Amino acid sequence: MDKILIRGGSPLRGEVQVSGAKNAALPLLCATLLAPGTHELRNLPNLRDIDTAVQLLHIMGAHTTAIAPGTARINADEIACAEAPYDLVRTMRASVLVLGPLLARLGYARVSLPGGCAIGARPVDQHLSGLEAMGAKIDLEHGYIEARAERLQGARIYLDIPTVGGTENLLMAATLAQGRTIIENAAREPEIIDLAKALQNMGAQIEGAGSDAITIHGVEKLRPMNHAVMPDRIEAGTFMVAAAISRGDVLVRDAEAEHLEAVISKLRQSGAEVHCVPEGIRVRCEGPLQPLRIKTSPHPGFPTDMQAQFMALLTQAEGTSIISENVFENRFMHVSELQRLGARIRVDGRQATVDGRVELLGAPVMATDLRASASLVLAALAAENTTEISRIYHLDRGYERLEEKLSHLGADIRRVR
Ligand code: EPZ
Repeated sequence: MDKILIRGGSPLRGEVQVSGAKNAALPLLCATLLAPGTHELRNLPNLRDIDTAVQLLHIMGAHTTAIAPGTARINADEIACAEAPYDLVRTMRASVLVLGPLLARLGYARVSLPGGCAIGARPVDQHLSGLEAMGAKIDLEHGYIEARAERLQGARIYLDIPTVGGTENLLMAATLAQGRTIIENAAREPEIIDLAKALQNMGAQIEGAGSDAITIHGVEKLRPMNHAVMPDRIEAGTFMVAAAISRGDVLVRDAEAEHLEAVISKLRQSGAEVHCVPEGIRVRCEGPLQPLRIKTSPHPGFPTDMQAQFMALLTQAEGTSIISENVFENRFMHVSELQRLGARIRVDGRQATVDGRVELLGAPVMATDLRASASLVLAALAAENTTEISRIYHLDRGYERLEEKLSHLGADIRRVR
């Protein structure tokens, strides 16, 4: 079990390159199931979750060849198996995103129910009710989703919540449905726009991606995609917070300001300087940090995936901050670990009160989920002495070579086997 050791106190300085977005790459890989032929995906991040997704495609009959770092060719001529097994789905919930493409291409899919995870129950009821609205017959048995449809029919679907995965599954399914589908109350995340761009490149007819109403006119068949994955806005946001918490000066290369408006606004409110430049986003922070009021919400609101990172930052603010986590029901797992470093945080339901002016002291801590791990790394950068973070396989799911990138910025960080 690898661990990461960080000795805090060094301001981060220099440039860091953002990798391709995990949460765009995963649905894009699933979308290759929609069309035979050889797809090409570029700017793929080198992450455990991507490896898991490639393994899943392989089980189904799609074969992936790496032709350069971050570039893969996926041949989806023969999709023989329409089953996503439990042992894979439980390691990566996003596997449920094969459901829509398999139903659309083969008329059948058997996908293990993802089950919950550290941050919440994470049901998929919206995915299923949307597919039923399109004529799919859905049975749940022995922990599996069995879905059948001669041919999906276009429908007007109203999502109860703007679910990212639900929007992605239904968007992909609708591209090959008979007739027109409208997804109302759709998620507006940038990853949805990236997926829609790739689907349009495959010949899909989609309007309104990025708005809360997406219209899809089904077509008879699609051609392979040739697409470059968008930059990872959450990785970018994490490095922006790293610059602020370490009182450094960092250029986050290829970060896209339009994907990070809420994060930029909050960083500026906290007193950091944020400059949006053609190469990316530069964050400098020398003065005191101001406390904040943060409420997570679906895009374009403040992203829940940046909540843990900001909590670490706000332990260093000149006063008390309040964070409300409104998207997931249990996304404060990082609090108890931050408290081990000396943070003073009180949780009451979905609200966390974070005292500022806290001297963080290095200690052994344990990662519990992907973004919680990132928040421990950030706190360790500001802590006295050395912090040892275990269970960093959580970190490897969503951050490519994080210790290398941070060490390149001057952090005293190393991975020990
Ligand atoms: C995606 O998860 C991301 N994962 C998550 O990132 C991110 O936190 C989340 O969107 C919200 O932005 C990927 O893209 C692979 P949701 P997803 O469906 O699609 C409830 C990370 O750290 N819900 O928008 O699973 C659900 O329980 C990960 O990179 C239903 O009730 O998120 C949650 O409370 C973590 N019924 C809320 O909606 C449903 O059918 C948002 O979930 C679907 C969701």
